[in-house]
Amino acid sequence: MKRWLGIGVAMGLAALGGAAQAANWQDLGNPKVGPQQTLKQFHDYFKSRFPSIPLQKYADGPYIFNKDLMQQYQEAVQFNPGEITLEEGKKLWDAPFRNGKTYASCYPDGGKGVATRYPYYDPKLQTVVTLGGSLNACREHNGERPLQYAGAKMAALQTYLASLSNGLPVDVKVQGPGAIHAFEQGKAFYFMKRGPHGFSCAACHVAQAGMSLHNHQTISATLGEAAHFPAYGVGGSAVKTLQKQFADCETKLGVKPHPLESTDYRDLEYFVTYLSNGIRINAPGYQP
Ligand code: HEC
Repeated sequence: MKRWLGIGVAMGLAALGGAAQAANWQDLGNPKVGPQQTLKQFHDYFKSRFPSIPLQKYADGPYIFNKDLMQQYQEAVQFNPGEITLEEGKKLWDAPFRNGKTYASCYPDGGKGVATRYPYYDPKLQTVVTLGGSLNACREHNGERPLQYAGAKMAALQTYLASLSNGLPVDVKVQGPGAIHAFEQGKAFYFMKRGPHGFSCAACHVAQAGMSLHNHQTISATLGEAAHFPAYGVGGSAVKTLQKQFADCETKLGVKPHPLESTDYRDLEYFVTYLSNGIRINAPGYQP
């Protein structure tokens, strides 16, 4: 995968029109204020930078910042190849395990609406449980081997399960000391500088949201990102999960990506998804 080279220069130029009146973006990484206040600060920050963009619009990702992009997106999603993955996911979902049960037996309501509440923190397991992790737990519970997190089947199943919540707002809870700790770990990851250019995730997806990189890619805002994952990425001609996207961004920054479903990535997914709270799910998304 190609790295982002010379991002500093390109972004320096792009940033000229940037966040004059908005609060200092680095303050959003404050580990002391707790989840609710963090969410409010993110809302306020983006509202002051992009007053004409309502919160729900963030569900559409980077397209919202540019009329031409939005038009391309609206045309492209009419034939979103992610729909094929969705169909594959439905077949996998409906196929019985060797014991005759299906994935639906592991979730309330056969999986309808459950993706709104993922990830969640499990105090007994002392870890964040992601949608992907729950699918593998379901398999193991039914005597099946877990799937590879980076594999196509996992992406397809997650896409289908996420789509059973389409139109419903993300509703991730962070309650209790273990949950708050995991959330803060995710936030710290998001604001930590990494790679040869010393960029944090937030340096792009907060401070430079709506700006273009030297390759003309527009950078999405943290808000709403998780609501349209898994998403079809034209670059890789495949649907990718949110964690695969984290790995792609790390790779492009010249950093060795963390393993999918590592504690770091689960905490990161928890943080990033919480920041989509209130935004309606729309999976599979589409990425140019
Ligand atoms: C140099 C800027 C830059 C940095 C730093 C960066 N990203 Fe990205 N990221 C991008 C670009 C460009 C894309 C593709 C266009 C888009 O969707 O924003 C992207 C895409 C994404 C998306 C999907 C967005 C969508 O709406 O489809 C997520 C989620 C994401 N990045 C998370 C991260 C995380 C987590 C980190 C830190 C490990 C990170 N990014 C670091 C530039 C960056």
